[in-house]
Amino acid sequence: MRYWVGIESTAHTFGVSIVSEEGIILADERDVYVPPAGGLQPREVARHHTNVAPDVIKRAFAKAGIGPSEVTGVGVSYGPGLGPCLRVGVSVARALSSYYGWRLFGVNHTVGHVEISRLLSGFSDPLAVYVSGGNTNIVAWKDGRYRIFGETLDIAVGNLLDSFAREVGLQHPGGPKIEKLALEGEKLGLIDLPYSVKGQDVSFSGLLTAAIKVYKSGEKLERVAYSLQETAFAMLAEAAERALVHTRKDSVISAGGVAANSRLNQMLSLVAEDHGVPFFATPIRMAGDNGVMIAAVAMEMDMGGVSPEDPSKLLPTPKLRMSDTDVRWRITGLKLRVK
Ligand code: ATP
Ligand code: FE2
Repeated sequence: MRYWVGIESTAHTFGVSIVSEEGIILADERDVYVPPAGGLQPREVARHHTNVAPDVIKRAFAKAGIGPSEVTGVGVSYGPGLGPCLRVGVSVARALSSYYGWRLFGVNHTVGHVEISRLLSGFSDPLAVYVSGGNTNIVAWKDGRYRIFGETLDIAVGNLLDSFAREVGLQHPGGPKIEKLALEGEKLGLIDLPYSVKGQDVSFSGLLTAAIKVYKSGEKLERVAYSLQETAFAMLAEAAERALVHTRKDSVISAGGVAANSRLNQMLSLVAEDHGVPFFATPIRMAGDNGVMIAAVAMEMDMGGVSPEDPSKLLPTPKLRMSDTDVRWRITGLKLRVK
């Protein structure tokens, strides 16, 4: 049996996972940095990752019940992300690869989010709504790459939720807190907020400003949270629908941290249903950053004939974009599952 290790360290999460060639997730260990207040300070997060790395690696091997000599390859998120954080993961992976002779693969973090959702869904070629702290991209595979068929023209939807949360005094990450508040706010009714879909794209900054203003004028937080979510997610659903019609894909998935949101998934599933195609909502644990997506992509790349990196040469690439990466190596017919 062959095994691949995945290392994730682009932002708040240091994660290590081990998957087998049969698609079994043998280990999925993480240590998530929670800032004392305010946003993420890259140097502080990197210090956290350096401190926890040895323990997270040990826990992953203990959970998987295999030894380092049984590992075929290691994947690491080498971008996009926060420079100091990326450097920790890349250094750890380079060291492990050199010492144990594991084949090294640099994994595009954004491709990881889409691929983990696709491999869990069992769909071979879906339209993916990738929504996270730093990205809002509606993507589909075309000519060997994930290409963007709709995106935000300004801030990401996760950033919208996190920024609003910070303004009203909630701790990072804001998404899950706003989801809870929104459930309470539904009975209070929808407030009219700026809805902005331009062609295939969306824009959230006007919505953010308006939501903060409404809250500061005395409106109940629950009601603003509900209205903010409804407006932002309806925009995403409209853009996704356009992309689905345009690309004619036969299935839809949500991916990335914001895909943990039930209301968003409900709206996207209705779009899919209207067009007679299936929808897969990424399970919460696999929606946010994790090592599993990196291990799974390393496995795909290795099986797909990608040449391993020279361990002394792989560098963090903070500004990597989704379409920079060739994904001709995509595997179909393999469904990932937990041991
Ligand atoms: P990127 O993938 O763009 O680099 P990231 O790595 O910062 O982003 P992820 O872990 O993929 O982050 O996603 C984090 C985002 O998901 C945060 O903005 C957070 O508020 C949001 N999020 C998490 N849970 C929920 C939820 N239940 N509802 C809405 N948003 C959520
Ligand atoms: Fe992410």
